[in-house]
Amino acid sequence: MRFGIRTIDEFDVNDKTVLCRIDINQPVDREKGTLKSTARIQACVPTLKELSDKGAKLVLMAHQGSDIEYKNFYTTEPHSKALSELLGREVQFIPDVCGPAAIEKIKSLRAGEILLLDNVRFMSEEQTLFELKLCLTHEQQAETLLVRKLAPLADLYVCDAFAASHRDQPSLCGFEQVLPSAMGRLFEKEYCVLSELMDAPERPCTFVLGGAKIADAFLMMETVLRAGVADHILPGGLVANILLAAKGEDIGQGSIDFIMKSNYGEYIEKAKGLYEQYKKYIVLPTDLAYTVNGVRKEAKLGEIPESAGITDIGAETSAVYQEYIRTSKTVFVNGPMGIFEEEPTEYGTKAVWEALGDTDAYTVIGGGDSITATTKYGKTDAISYICTGGGALIRFLTGEELPVVKALRHGATVK
Ligand code: 3PG
Repeated sequence: MRFGIRTIDEFDVNDKTVLCRIDINQPVDREKGTLKSTARIQACVPTLKELSDKGAKLVLMAHQGSDIEYKNFYTTEPHSKALSELLGREVQFIPDVCGPAAIEKIKSLRAGEILLLDNVRFMSEEQTLFELKLCLTHEQQAETLLVRKLAPLADLYVCDAFAASHRDQPSLCGFEQVLPSAMGRLFEKEYCVLSELMDAPERPCTFVLGGAKIADAFLMMETVLRAGVADHILPGGLVANILLAAKGEDIGQGSIDFIMKSNYGEYIEKAKGLYEQYKKYIVLPTDLAYTVNGVRKEAKLGEIPESAGITDIGAETSAVYQEYIRTSKTVFVNGPMGIFEEEPTEYGTKAVWEALGDTDAYTVIGGGDSITATTKYGKTDAISYICTGGGALIRFLTGEELPVVKALRHGATVK
């Protein structure tokens, strides 16, 4: 038992049916029907290998995308192929979550075999609970179809989905109400490393916050500033544009229109108060980049053309951010500085990752895009700790008990 949660060491899984929730949510190429990265899939291999080696009949549940992130809302079939390759043993797939076909298949599993079910978010119960559109208590989640159909088939529930531990959904929080439960090896490792780190980060401690998950980025910024953990905030992507707009800087009407169209207007108001109170910690970009007919252009604040849409931080800002990263003792990074998937707009992200490779600081990165950038720029070995979670890492830093941690603690009392 660690943190009030059971570990898989406490169970004999030989010939037992183990339901295991993993997070293998990855960017998807819908046209080719393939995954653009397998970093998260790789991370849960040790748990799956251990359970299968110990003779478990292993049933995997996972989500892929959501209705908010629809471009990645997809079947988990390609993940079964990636898992088979990474594990070096077959991972069967069934295009069903908890219907008769899935149930029959689960019943037919033999010791050591592994089955991946289809995207659990194809179940409306799982999807409507996403982002707390509807709140069900954990007891109520145990009444959902998914839990009622699958729990009777299983002897043990294992959650290795630290990256989704901030989501209050049946596949994550329902099974612990009715089944003996444990955390997987990845969950255990992530929880342990982050707890130790946040107890006393070495200073100066810098947070690089970019990307387009605005709610997560602002929650993280607010939390670490209020807790007095952050010495510097280096914003990029949409996060930077919103802060600049809040400060009253001229970032071009095109970018303001984009913020409004994306329904992030309320964050400009929110950012005003945050900036006013903590401006000495927030380092804002002084130049930004945009593209014209696929060609990169840069301009200082106030000189950005009306119609331009900002796609990256500028070279001057990148150099300043690099210096902060190189002179810090702890650096957290969540999200890229711009559209790093494309060559003309990757400069800022590449510069940040270069500095992450050079610095002597303890470096932690989190979130799907940041993991993809780490792989793209060949910095996997240079980063001190790569957390599979983005949103989960942020919620963890707020100090609140994560819904899945709460459920697993309850699961420790179920015989
Ligand atoms: C993530 O990508 O951060 C996790 O897989 C959780 O995904 P979600 O934000 O769609 O719940």
